[in-house]
Amino acid sequence: MTVRAPAKVNLQLAVGPLRDDGYHDLVNVFHAVSLVDEVTAVPADRLEVTVEAAPTARVAIEGVPVDGGNLAVRAALLVAERLGVEPQAALRIRKAIPVAGGMAGGSADAAAALVACARLWDDREDPLLTRDDLLELGAVLGSDVPFALVGGTAVGVGRGERLTPALTRGTFHWVFATADGGLSTPEVYAECDRLRDARGERAPWPEVSQALMTALATGDVKALGAALDNDLQAPALALRPALRRTLATGRDHGAIGALVSGSGPTCAFLAESEEHAGELAAALDGSGVAQSVVRAHGPVPGATII
Ligand code: C5P
Repeated sequence: MTVRAPAKVNLQLAVGPLRDDGYHDLVNVFHAVSLVDEVTAVPADRLEVTVEAAPTARVAIEGVPVDGGNLAVRAALLVAERLGVEPQAALRIRKAIPVAGGMAGGSADAAAALVACARLWDDREDPLLTRDDLLELGAVLGSDVPFALVGGTAVGVGRGERLTPALTRGTFHWVFATADGGLSTPEVYAECDRLRDARGERAPWPEVSQALMTALATGDVKALGAALDNDLQAPALALRPALRRTLATGRDHGAIGALVSGSGPTCAFLAESEEHAGELAAALDGSGVAQSVVRAHGPVPGATII
């Protein structure tokens, strides 16, 4: 059983106040792109996991846990528990999504593992676990996991797990510049709070950008570029100042929009067209500002059985 799940870029990430549970209230406009991880689940005596880089991707997989700290393993355990079966599967994760890159690679693996294990251990025509059940289990695993199940473009509220699809028109072309070493998501959120405290600012209540929704619905790439906004960009840049040069290089080469993806350190560049994405990717690659450069388009579907 093999399932693919996509990376995401946040078109808007409005970070609101810190809640009592340690999370922030968000408006998180997720956009799934054609950079995908693959999880294969096969029957085995016990639960085990292996991680490899996809043949065409230059993903550094060293940081990925191969024990209970791996989100895909936790996903498999949750599914087994809900189905009342033993978690007997070997999971093989093939990564093309940067690790700790701000593109929700771990969440994609968790989403793919949820679907793969649910199918492997329950092949009834009318499965016990519904799509809503998997979304609920996804939210237990992480704020971004439900989106990796649904894909497309969606507005997430709460901690990002309560999703509503966004209306979009056409396809958008992206270039992603990865960086050496990841950034820790909790550390970037903490830096966001710290920067606000230092400026004496109170976190605003997050609101969906109507300019962004209109740009998506009309397929207006220039308006989309202008509406991109990520509250985690300033803290990510504070922690990793070198990313400023990466963003500037993309802008210098005509990127319609340039922003840090999620909590970074991957930078996302919106291109005017597929052809422009090729030119932009070549320019970024040649400039030496990125560890690797990948092209992708969106929106694409969420976790898909192949
Ligand atoms: O939900 P997930 O495990 O992916 O979140 C990782 C971390 O990101 C959390 O522990 C928290 O520090 C931060 N986070 C947050 N507010 C959110 C989502 C994540 O502060 N809405």
